[in-house]
Amino acid sequence: MEEIAMNQQKTKVISRKLILFPIPFQGHVTPMLHLANLLYSKSFSITIIQTRYSSLDPKCFPHFTFYSLDDEVSENKSFSSDNLVPGLVEMQENYREPFRVCLGRVLDGVEPGSEPFKCLIADSLWRFPGDVAESFNLRRIAFRTSSMSAFVVNDYLPYFKDKGYFLQGSEPEEPLHEIPPFRVKDLPGEDHHDILAFVVHQTKTSQGVICNSFEELESPSITRVREILSIPVYPIGPLHKYSPTSASSILTEDHTSISWLDKQPPNSVLYVSFGSMAAISSTDFLEIAWALANSKQPFLWVVRPGLSQCPLPEDYMEIVKDRGHIVKWAPQVEVLAHSAIGGFWTHCGWNSTIESISEGVPMLCLPFFVDQAMNARHVSETWKTGLVLENGIRRDEIEKGIRRLMVEEEGEAMRSRAASFKKLATQCLMDGGSSYKALDALISYLLAS
Ligand code: UDX
Repeated sequence: MEEIAMNQQKTKVISRKLILFPIPFQGHVTPMLHLANLLYSKSFSITIIQTRYSSLDPKCFPHFTFYSLDDEVSENKSFSSDNLVPGLVEMQENYREPFRVCLGRVLDGVEPGSEPFKCLIADSLWRFPGDVAESFNLRRIAFRTSSMSAFVVNDYLPYFKDKGYFLQGSEPEEPLHEIPPFRVKDLPGEDHHDILAFVVHQTKTSQGVICNSFEELESPSITRVREILSIPVYPIGPLHKYSPTSASSILTEDHTSISWLDKQPPNSVLYVSFGSMAAISSTDFLEIAWALANSKQPFLWVVRPGLSQCPLPEDYMEIVKDRGHIVKWAPQVEVLAHSAIGGFWTHCGWNSTIESISEGVPMLCLPFFVDQAMNARHVSETWKTGLVLENGIRRDEIEKGIRRLMVEEEGEAMRSRAASFKKLATQCLMDGGSSYKALDALISYLLAS
């Protein structure tokens, strides 16, 4: 019955037009493109407004229409944990007016008599689409690329500030009874609070929220978000399961990752990647390198340009021999789905976390900033599909963590729980599943004028 209903919807929506506006960071562009492909597959026509920096190549997406902002930021800036906050503030200032002009151009370009654009879907990290969309009388949906728990925490931040949790001398281990299982030390640092306050504001003032999560994973937080917001919430994830979009990769994927994995036994390899933004000191980089070498476990390690200024020791590959494979960027979802992968040492960015959970891979967590400590805390305490390196980056500690995850019984139990989440992540997308229903509700909302 539902299948038929969806098909009928398809006929009706053929000319319904949507505008999408991603933030030009890897962890934001990728899920937005998954969303774009998904909505296109439901017969929506997709226009993407993008900044000049980190432009997606329209040739790779002939089914979408692209507009570029006429912005001043034409140089190819690279963002990392070191310059993220000032970089984001600068972006918000530089892109506001070009976005207003560009959105006007898109809306003016509609041919007389044809269907007008009805909705803008903007990343909730942007500060200005709310006001701009309102000035054009355009509906706006916020797209959230981080977890729903992190949203709940962000909403609590002013209250926690009043309670003195960010003052010197506060107890980092103190549990936050309002939002278990978090502790004071899992909260985002004060330098990010302004940005997060805008995210909360942009979300609260939108007409709906799409998020890359699913009910079975974050049910209490999704319920809480529904209480906080008086707008519809659509948890339709995990988004990467709908369509592959390697074309959204800002760096070139190295496919020797897969040919190397093909030669390894099942569940034997530790995949190591700290996402698209983490920048680490030379000391930490060498501790990580030697921990991997000393662990004697096979590993596939992504050493992204910008991860560290420190080169690997000259004899490193001779020491690890063919037990280790190092690439600049990997096809991560394909890697995580590979049968040779037994664990993922991750920074716990939300995309990496949900990709790992959905592919049934247990995690060793090394969070760096913003939401990552909260994601790591859920991995170890709520879902129990991994463990967190809590005592800094020290080779002996890391080696112990790698053994616990890859070799010991404890790791096996985490792997088996991760396999259960993989099932849930698949079922929620199937006919009648939670994300399937949320997507249906989203489509109905987008169809309503
Ligand atoms: C940033 C923040 O760090 C994170 O906390 C926030 O939730 C989103 O923005 P990022 O560092 O980019 O995230 O990490 P993550 O969210 O995990 O996204 C990285 C993306 O790059 C993932 O989709 C991952 O599959 C992809 N990736 C990573 C690759 O395709 N290849 C790689 O080699 C590494």
